Amino acid sequence: MASDRRPGFLREFLRQPGIVGAIAASSRFLASEMVEGFDWDRIGTVVEYGPGTGSFTGHVLRRMSAEARYVAIEINPRFAARFRAEHPGVPIYEASAADVEQVCRSEGITRIDAVVCGLPWASFPADLQTAILDATMTMLAPGGQFGTFAYLQGLLLPGGMRLRRLLRGRFATVTTSRIVWRNLPPALIYRCRQAND
Ligand SMILES: C[S@@+](CC[C@H](N)C(=O)[O-])C[C@H]1O[C@@H](n2cnc3c(N)ncnc32)[C@H](O)[C@@H]1O
Repeated sequence: MASDRRPGFLREFLRQPGIVGAIAASSRFLASEMVEGFDWDRIGTVVEYGPGTGSFTGHVLRRMSAEARYVAIEINPRFAARFRAEHPGVPIYEASAADVEQVCRSEGITRIDAVVCGLPWASFPADLQTAILDATMTMLAPGGQFGTFAYLQGLLLPGGMRLRRLLRGRFATVTTSRIVWRNLPPALIYRCRQAND
């Protein structure tokens, strides 16, 4: 019997715990909650950071308008290869989310309306958190939306607390979703919006 060579979360976590940041992919419950907060009918361009095995991708594809553009950025080459095979219609860049400006330039995108983010913020150092958020703010359209999740156990870690401060310092509004208990581990979503100008 052929073995499954697809990258699994646990295997990738054991290779690079601070970059993968999770032992399991997000549940469909967290994915549903993630896509809830976006104004899909007003979104022309959506970029996903850290799609991993694509837990959010089908949900985004179902909600976004037929004319919208969707681009993904994933730093792990094995996850990126799997994503490419499963979602051939969505361009994926094997890069860091900090390189979002270069990715957009390659795609001819001048403004992003929404970012769906699955990055493991709590395990990132301060300079990487800042670099990714600053690059995001330069590309996000006025009124643009940014959604990212946080595991409950990471909320009180230095990286988790710093992320909250950084989001509040950059976005006009930051709200939190209900807690999604049916996820391993339980998580909530930060829903952020850029000022309209
Ligand atoms: C916690 S996993 C989440 C994966 C998926 N979004 C989900 O919810 O199941 C974090 C993902 O972010 C990716 N990642 C980590 N650092 C990154 C970076 N700087 N730029 C882009 N992707 C990154 C990891 O490789 C991994 O796929």
